[in-house]
Amino acid sequence: MNSGMVTAAYIVAAILFILSLAGLSNQETARRGNWFGIAGMTIAILATVLSGTVTNYGLLIVMVAVGGCIGAFLAARVQMTEMPELVAILHSFVGLAAVLVGFASYFDPNMHLEGAAKSIHNVEIYLGILIGAVTFTGSVIAFGKLNGKVGSKPLMLANRHLLNAAIGVFCIILLFVFLSVGKGAGTAILIIMTILAGAFGIHMVMAIGGADMPVVVSMLNSYSGWAAAATGFMLSNDLLIIVGALVGSSGAILSYIMCRAMNRQFLSVIMGGFGAAPVAAADGEEVEQGEPNPILPDEVAQLLMDSEEVVIVPGYGMAVAHAQHPVSELTKTLIDKGVKVQFAIHPVAGRMPGHMNVLLAEANVPYDLVLEMDEINDDLPQVDVVIVIGANDIVNPSALDNPASPIAGMPVLEVWNAKTVIVSKRGMATGYAGVENPLFFKDNTRMLFGDAKDSVEAIRSALK
Ligand code: TAP
Repeated sequence: MNSGMVTAAYIVAAILFILSLAGLSNQETARRGNWFGIAGMTIAILATVLSGTVTNYGLLIVMVAVGGCIGAFLAARVQMTEMPELVAILHSFVGLAAVLVGFASYFDPNMHLEGAAKSIHNVEIYLGILIGAVTFTGSVIAFGKLNGKVGSKPLMLANRHLLNAAIGVFCIILLFVFLSVGKGAGTAILIIMTILAGAFGIHMVMAIGGADMPVVVSMLNSYSGWAAAATGFMLSNDLLIIVGALVGSSGAILSYIMCRAMNRQFLSVIMGGFGAAPVAAADGEEVEQGEPNPILPDEVAQLLMDSEEVVIVPGYGMAVAHAQHPVSELTKTLIDKGVKVQFAIHPVAGRMPGHMNVLLAEANVPYDLVLEMDEINDDLPQVDVVIVIGANDIVNPSALDNPASPIAGMPVLEVWNAKTVIVSKRGMATGYAGVENPLFFKDNTRMLFGDAKDSVEAIRSALK
């Protein structure tokens, strides 16, 4: 392939990636968006492989086959609820790749740059390795925190902000030294900086509490994009720069949306220390909450039959129980019986952005029944019954009325304003943020104990 054709292929791929992102912004076009992404990536890989820069096809085929098989195997086995962990570990690969490409570029015997061009290339290498190392170690820790191998409690070292600032300043000083020394000393500086950046990544994510993890996942997504863009500069690959910038900026926008959804300042998320778990009460003492008021599926069915308007709030527990299909069937049954049913989706429900939307779409729940938190919160006082299915933190009133709560200020679905609230969960366990939920003890709340799938199926049988 000549360079003109490669450039044309890269432009087509870049357009397809932009169309993909546009498609993914809406549930109805998401499937099409995925196909645009797949087509763009296929064109990008083919154009790169056939561009003439690849010389060892045998090695390439073996590596692609091995990597592809591992990826396909892991992706096929992963549960939907484990997706954030998979995403976090994939981000770590992007970071590691940027570090390795950086070192490879530095040692490339065919690179004969002089003067300003050499300095610019060395700055690209330095920044690529720096961002890559932070992304790599930060993502590995995020992976550990998400799957519970690393505790979600924030690590609060003394003078931690000073420590981070010192690492940052030292890395900037090292950059100037790196630009003025030869290969040998340059290599040593790159290694020292990689260790420092890696330590910074570990420290940064270790200091972030469980409640802020949604923001961290999207923030690392953004970092992995910038790491890819830096790799694009090192390799003079325009498409990698474009794709890296797309991932970097969309991850940054997602982080902003997540922060807004949780009423958090991005800077204070990075500063860490928020959402230590578990928390008993605002002042550290146990508060007597009273007794929960249980209900049986038959009674829920009767309540639903007597209702005009029902709202379903899905959460992480619905995903764990794989209850989305019975929930969809229950919705159909109620609509057939003349009950108005809608879904209320919190922006951080579940364990990844859009988690609940994906599950409901998979179960063929019509999109027009699915409303965002801001669209439905004001209407909840008119609703007869809200059924909370495996959700906890996103319906916790202490976020609004207890300023000392670790999730204080996070906008939540104000389900307690409805006439009756049914909460389907297995017991009285806390949710992801480890915070007690006073909703379960309110006068108009009834607890439907048991696995969400079994409970919803039992309600459906009772309705028949
Ligand atoms: P959570 O607050 O995590 O609560 C889920 C509840 O589901 C638990 O209290 C659990 O109680 C229940 N449950 C678990 N398995 C169940 C089953 N088989 N049947 C019925 N119930 C079951 O979930 P949420 O309300 O969706 O809130 C999401 C939380 O995750 C937020 O704190 C958010 O910040 C965090 N987070 C979100 C994301 C994104 S991007 N969405 C990423 C990382 C973290 P029992 O054990 O008593 O059943």
